[in-house]
Amino acid sequence: MTNKADYSSLKASEDIKERLQEEFPTLISLAASPPDEIVRRCEINRSTAERLVNQARKLLGKAEPITAAELLEQRLAKPRITTSSQQLDEILGGGVAVGAITEFSGAFSTGKTQLAFQLCINVQRSFDEGGLEGTALFIDTENTFSPARVAEMSYSFTSEPKEILKKIFVSRAYNADHQVQIVQKSDKLIRSNDVKLIVVDSMASHFRAEFPGKDNLPRRQQMLMAHAEVLQRLAEAYDLAVMTTNQILSNPDSLLSNNIEPALGFAWGHRPTHRILLRKSRGTTRIARIFDSPELAEREAVFHITAQGIRDGPPLDY
Ligand SMILES: Nc1ncnc2c1ncn2[C@@H]1O[C@H](COP(=O)(O)OP(=O)(O)OP(=O)(O)O)[C@@H](O)[C@H]1O
Ligand SMILES: [Mg+2]
Repeated sequence: MTNKADYSSLKASEDIKERLQEEFPTLISLAASPPDEIVRRCEINRSTAERLVNQARKLLGKAEPITAAELLEQRLAKPRITTSSQQLDEILGGGVAVGAITEFSGAFSTGKTQLAFQLCINVQRSFDEGGLEGTALFIDTENTFSPARVAEMSYSFTSEPKEILKKIFVSRAYNADHQVQIVQKSDKLIRSNDVKLIVVDSMASHFRAEFPGKDNLPRRQQMLMAHAEVLQRLAEAYDLAVMTTNQILSNPDSLLSNNIEPALGFAWGHRPTHRILLRKSRGTTRIARIFDSPELAEREAVFHITAQGIRDGPPLDY
């Protein structure tokens, strides 16, 4: 299924190929990029950029439509990352999908970051154990990444948590611009370390803080859209999962339960493929509800946050 075409098959001068490869390390990322972005980042003219993008798509066999039957076969063949909760996996269609953005929204302490930690561990596990045998890139916008907590959760699978921590690349994003840049420049890291999960925790904090009020909305939306587009492109180009977290707002007109809705508005709302809202229940209990997905029904799952991580049942001493 994977097409092996690479830069050596591209008809262009060595100089241009070098410049392209520096910014877009694989033919897949080149094929998925808008020509204007290639012009800007590689300083080549637009017609050359268009020609090379088209060539790359042809080489990869992505220029022509495929049948829905083929698409179904491709999708079914794609593994997913387990959340360590069977119930949650089930409403997600088997776990967190690759090639897509999955968003978890919720109030504080609903488990967004804990879920992200669990996925960073689980992505490293074997395919048989619900992993992708890859590594994780964690983009931390709130300074909440906790290696100690990830180590604690890792003990369920290994006596050497350090080995797990070594396969999680943590980038602290200091502002919205920095957050966007980390993602834009992540191609090389993804390729050389087989990154199979990108976490953005949280998508909302910098954007909401730096672009307050209605006047700033158009600029915020524009930047968010471009950011989301790069994330989606990486997800598809490298068959990796993107997990984002989002804050919530109160809105009495919300169509969701409890008069709340995810932050960042409509424009962002269309970007994640699957959207899940988390809420707290008694003690360690959390409830996840899928509310926006092109293929998954609106369903709820109950899970628990335990010392060992995300689980179906409560901790034994609970
Ligand atoms: N070591 C631990 N053992 C058991 N439960 C823990 C542990 N650490 C955190 N938790 C649970 O996880 C909860 C915090 O969840 P999490 O950090 O995922 O919240 P969040 O949804 O990311 O919130 P925020 O919006 O503030 O970032 C705590 O309230 C606690 O219930
Ligand atoms: Mg958090």
